[in-house]
Amino acid sequence: MAAPDSNSKLLFSLDSYHVTAELGFILPDPLEELPPYYQPWMDIALRVPELVDSHELRFHINEMPLLSSQFLQKHRELRLAHLALSVMTMGYAWQEGENDTVKMLPHNLAVPYWEVSQRLGLPPILTHADAVLANWKKKDPQGPFDMENLELLFSLPGGDSVRGFFMVTLLVELAAVPGLRNIPVVINGVRCGDTEAVATALDAVCQSLQDMTDALKLMQAYVEPSVFYGIMRIYLSGWKDNPCMPKGLVYEGVRAEPMEFSGGSAAQSSLLHCFDELLGVKHEAKSGAFLTRMRNYMPPAHRQLIQDISSRPSLKSFVQQQASERLHQAFQHCVTKLLALRSYHINVVSRFITVPAARARQLRHQRQELEAEVISRAPAALEERGTGGSGIMTFLKTVRDQTKDALLPEMSKETIPHS
Ligand code: HEM
Repeated sequence: MAAPDSNSKLLFSLDSYHVTAELGFILPDPLEELPPYYQPWMDIALRVPELVDSHELRFHINEMPLLSSQFLQKHRELRLAHLALSVMTMGYAWQEGENDTVKMLPHNLAVPYWEVSQRLGLPPILTHADAVLANWKKKDPQGPFDMENLELLFSLPGGDSVRGFFMVTLLVELAAVPGLRNIPVVINGVRCGDTEAVATALDAVCQSLQDMTDALKLMQAYVEPSVFYGIMRIYLSGWKDNPCMPKGLVYEGVRAEPMEFSGGSAAQSSLLHCFDELLGVKHEAKSGAFLTRMRNYMPPAHRQLIQDISSRPSLKSFVQQQASERLHQAFQHCVTKLLALRSYHINVVSRFITVPAARARQLRHQRQELEAEVISRAPAALEERGTGGSGIMTFLKTVRDQTKDALLPEMSKETIPHS
C-alpha cells in the first residue's frame, strides 16, 4: 500500500460504500437467525413456498403478532429482517395468482416492514439486495463460493429453479468483484494522468465483464424456463404499473393511500450502473429514467457509489486526450464486453420470457390443454411487460444500443503514436 500523502484524502476508494474487496456488493456472511423475539416472522417466512401451495400463507400472516422492530440493531439483522418480511409480503400479495390479489398488507406485517425499510433506506418490497445479495449461505463454511456449496436462506414458489435463479445471479455479482475493485484504480489513474495504470485496470474490468457473461450462461443449466415464466415470475412482480394491482398496495397502519413499488429485478444490481458511469454509457430518456428509478431500490451506500463515480472527470475524454493505442484498445474492449453481456442477457430474456410467453398465448387458444402445462398458469397481464411496464425487448435493445454509442471512433493513423 502506498504511504499516505497529502493527496491520499482525494484518492477514490471503495471503503465507505459497503463494498468489500472479496465480495463487492454481496452482503458478507448474512445472518441466518434473528433474536428469538422475532421467531414468529422466521417461522412463517421459512415456509412461504409450502404455505402458498396450501393457500394458507395469508391466514398465518393475518394471525401473526405485531412485533416491534426496535430490537433489531445491527445492519445484518436489519437485512435479514427485511428479507424475511419481503418474502412474506410477496407470498401474501400473489398467493392466489393474478386474479385474487389484495388491496392491503395487514398492519402486523406492514408496520414493522415499513420501519425496517426506512432504517435501511430500501423500499418495502423484495429487492435484488434482499433476494440475491443477502439471501445466501455456504453449506460448508470453509468450502468454495460455487453452485454446489451455496444455498438460499429463504425461497419462493418454484423449487430448484428459484435457487438456480438467485444463486446464478449471485455468481454474476461475484464475477464482477475484480472489475469493481479496479474502478478506483481507473479513477485515480485518470486523476494523476497514469495511462498505463488506467489501461491495466481496464483490462481487469474487461475480464470481469467476460466472467459475468460466463456466469450468466449457467442460468440455462439451473433454471427451467417454464417454471420461471409460469410460477416464479409473479412472486417477483411489484405493484407499480401492474394491471393486476392498478392502484398499488395499502400498507395498513403506515399510510391510508395505496403505494406503488416495482418488483425485484437485477436492473437493481449496482454493477452495470457502476460500469455504465465509468465508461460513459449515456441512456436514452425513457430507459434511462427507469434505470435511474431502480437506484432507489439499492442500498443507499451502493447508490452513492454510482453517484460518486458519475461525478468524476470523464474517463472517455481522458482516453481521447491521451492518444495511446494501448489505452484506447483497453477502453474499447471494455465497452465491447459490456455490449456482449447485454446482448447475451437479451438472449436469456428471450429464452425465459419471450418464448414461454408465446407458448402460453398459444395454449390459451387451445383451452383444453390448459390444465396440462405449468406455463399456462403464467399471469397474462405480465406477458409483454417488464418491471417498468414497457415492452421488455424494446427497453433492453435500447439500452444495448446506447452502450454501443459509448465506443470511441477508431483512432486515425495520425493519432496512433509510433513505438
Ligand atoms: C432468467 C434470468 C433473467 C431474466 C429472465 C431477466 C429479465 C430481465 C428483464 C425482463 C429486464 C427488464 C427490466 C425489468 O423488467 O426489470 C431485465 C433487466 C436487467 N437485467 Fe435481467 N434477467 C435475468 C437475469 C439477469 C442477471 C443474472 C443479471 C445480472 C446481474 C441481469 C441484469 C439485468 C440488468 C442490469 C438489467 C437492466 C438493463 C440493462 O442494464 O441492460 N439479469 N432483466
